[in-house]
Amino acid sequence: MITSLIPASPEEVDDDALHRLYAYPASDRPFVRFNFVAAADGAATSGGLSAGLGNDGDKRIFAVLRRLADVVLVGAGTIRAEGYGGSLVDDDARSWRAEHGLAEHPAVAVVSGSLNLDPAGSFFSGAPVRPLVLTSASAPADRRAALEDVADVVDCGEDTVGVPAVLAELRRRSLLRVLCEGGPAVLGDFTRSDAVDELCLSISALLAGGDGPRITVGDSPEHAVALTLASLLTEDSALYARYRRAS
Ligand SMILES: NC(=O)c1ccc[n+]([C@@H]2O[C@H](COP(=O)([O-])OP(=O)(O)OC[C@H]3O[C@@H](n4cnc5c(N)ncnc54)[C@H](OP(=O)(O)O)[C@@H]3O)[C@@H](O)[C@H]2O)c1
Repeated sequence: MITSLIPASPEEVDDDALHRLYAYPASDRPFVRFNFVAAADGAATSGGLSAGLGNDGDKRIFAVLRRLADVVLVGAGTIRAEGYGGSLVDDDARSWRAEHGLAEHPAVAVVSGSLNLDPAGSFFSGAPVRPLVLTSASAPADRRAALEDVADVVDCGEDTVGVPAVLAELRRRSLLRVLCEGGPAVLGDFTRSDAVDELCLSISALLAGGDGPRITVGDSPEHAVALTLASLLTEDSALYARYRRAS
């Protein structure tokens, strides 16, 4: 049973309450929410994947966040590690989305400079909506041509994918409720661009050990980004924090 520590309440936090708590704010520009799970020792992976870190409550919140999003954005590293084939939302979520004026399926977008993505892989072949590939002008032409058969491929920079250009493309497509599911390199990019509006972080009661990454990697930003704690839920010793950018 999920309960709320902040704001404090002994009541069960059911799915309706989760929908209210995690509702996106009204916005005329993309609102960027990241969702990560980490072990108590800071590891963002266990055995190379995030799947071993989450518990039932984490999975419920993960599904609610997808249900509320216009677009699920991921880095190519996460696609290569975790697959991401098929529908990102189940039948119930599709009905709920239709009732609430959202597209039946969230759009899905991947950030890749190398375009080292298999056009025949399940991410593309199993996608219920044509994926969006966000890349740079210097991406290999042969890989671009192969991916253009199965996805919209859009340049968001010359040599690297720029966060402002990504946000401009999402805005152009009216994809304003952005759910970024990682991975650490993408969170690093968005942190350096000060483009993270919200971080939903599940902290598992686990010492994962090993040498897995933190939830963010790459060069440090010029200034650390201050956050405030907007809510904190718990179930079975796991914590589900939601941080907002302080300014
Ligand atoms: N704990 C969690 O919640 C969680 C969430 C997600 C992922 N993960 C884990 O994180 C690991 C993957 O980490 P990762 O850092 O490699 O994943 P990532 O951030 O998903 O992907 C990194 C890749 O994204 C592309 N990319 C990112 N920023 C770019 C930019 N500015 N310009 C061009 N390309 C850019 C590059 O792709 P190309 O190489 O194709 O150019 C880069 O190699 C996996 O083990 C996964 O399981 C954990």
